[in-house]
Amino acid sequence: MNDAPDQSFPVRIASLVPLAPIARAEFARRFIIEDAEPASLGTLCPDVLLLSPAVRVDAAFLAGLPASVGALATYSVGLDHIDLDAVRARGLPMFNTPGILSNAVADQAMLLLLAATRRMAEATALLREGRWTDLWSSHILGVELAGRTLGIYGLGDIGRRVARRATAFGMRLVYHNRRRAVDEAGATFAATAEEFLASADILLLAAPSTGETRNFLNRERLALARDGLVVVNIGRGDLIDDDALLEALESGKVRAAGLDVFRNEPQIDPRFLARSDVVATPHIGSATEEARRGMATVLCDAIEAWRRGERPANRIT
Ligand code: DGY
Repeated sequence: MNDAPDQSFPVRIASLVPLAPIARAEFARRFIIEDAEPASLGTLCPDVLLLSPAVRVDAAFLAGLPASVGALATYSVGLDHIDLDAVRARGLPMFNTPGILSNAVADQAMLLLLAATRRMAEATALLREGRWTDLWSSHILGVELAGRTLGIYGLGDIGRRVARRATAFGMRLVYHNRRRAVDEAGATFAATAEEFLASADILLLAAPSTGETRNFLNRERLALARDGLVVVNIGRGDLIDDDALLEALESGKVRAAGLDVFRNEPQIDPRFLARSDVVATPHIGSATEEARRGMATVLCDAIEAWRRGERPANRIT
């Protein structure tokens, strides 16, 4: 229904995303872009609405949109904030940003993996708090990556890039997906979650949030894991049962955790921040200049293609 936009006027984008200046400049070079609040959309009459995972898109949100909105663009690869059936029912094309942020997120995964295994949060606190008295810091012993097995839950584009990085660190790789991947990036497929958890020293959660993946890391699964497991999450916060992970950290079953994503961002469970065995970052996996500029470019390209009546590859609905 909204597939034949009027091409005679420049595209007007209303942005509900606080864009980095380099990303905003890319939109501004190609379209008219204005910052907006949901309440101000009626007066702006935008053609396209720019969203982020912070904006929940459901039937009620869509019902409040002005009729001028002909397409939605989410400044993310993740789609869990969007009720895709409701978007389809409204007949709106929706674009996202696959691929372009994968290197950035894979780097962040390695950062958390190293920071968690080398007790970075504790080491930094020791320095900052003036507690560094023992030259060799013999009480802050980490573990090495070489020879350890990284278990990747969700071997998609990001998971594969982490796999390649981890191979360079001398790690062994196992992965668990719904189905065997075409490009296994040197990882061994574990068909069951049980087999997967029993074989990993370090667990990387890199799956999207879906009905199947939510609460993947719960009490029962943690009980199957190796003692001293390290958990890294760059997927979505709700892949983890928070209480179960906190209990496992407390008991030592989990040695350390590196978390970039949480439930209820940005109002996350404060118990994670109180722990020195947790290294936490505020969902900055895709926060590089390259990724944020690239995310803007792929959305701009998609919007232009849509205006020409084409179907871009990153059109979801
Ligand atoms: C994404 O694009 O989904 C990343 O998690 C950043 O929000």
